[in-house]
Amino acid sequence: MTIPIELKSNRSVEYNIYIDKLPKLKFNRKVAIITNPTISKLHLNTLLKNIVADMVYVVTIPDGEEYKNLDTVETILDELFKNKLDRKSLVVAFGGGVVGDISGFCASIYQRGVDFIQIPTTLLAQVDSSVGGKTGVNNRFGKNLIGSFYQPKAVYIDIDFSRDFTKERV
Ligand SMILES: NC(=O)c1ccc[n+]([C@@H]2O[C@H](COP(=O)([O-])OP(=O)(O)OC[C@H]3O[C@@H](n4cnc5c(N)ncnc54)[C@H](O)[C@@H]3O)[C@@H](O)[C@H]2O)c1
Repeated sequence: MTIPIELKSNRSVEYNIYIDKLPKLKFNRKVAIITNPTISKLHLNTLLKNIVADMVYVVTIPDGEEYKNLDTVETILDELFKNKLDRKSLVVAFGGGVVGDISGFCASIYQRGVDFIQIPTTLLAQVDSSVGGKTGVNNRFGKNLIGSFYQPKAVYIDIDFSRDFTKERV
């Protein structure tokens, strides 16, 4: 006997990329912003002024590629559980490619998947890593070997977040 299983995706994978000044964002649900201390010091206040939600939590992870690993995933998930984020909650990735990749991965596995948006703050993240839905972390066998394809619900690119950073690097 063969039983065909026909599945229609129950999750839309279409989304918009907004390239503009960050608009006011309003969510009727809990929001967890994932960021690191470097970005937080520079830009978190601006982001917080622009977000209205039922509750807003900030999860701060250490800065650096060496923290893009499963230990940090565990730390993030613990924070989401401690703050009782439910399946309707939203994860906001606020940072460069490291924060974006790990936040997207956590969103893809937390309670089997919650929505997430990307607000990238480096040039690389704005032109590359925040779009396309590749999420993941490194392990001792190599880079980005653990992960998922998981599309954001939206990407908000405000070049003011990356302007000074880009100038410094040129
Ligand atoms: N998912 C994808 O499709 C994809 C594509 C390319 C790269 N990546 C991943 O992206 C990561 C690299 O991303 P990255 O180059 O953004 O590095 P990064 O996230 O480590 O950021 C670089 C540094 O800049 C700091 N920073 C971020 N925004 C800043 C700002 N506005 N002002 C000042 N400092 C700021 C960060 O804290 C960090 O110290 C790698 O892990 C790579 O694997 C993923």
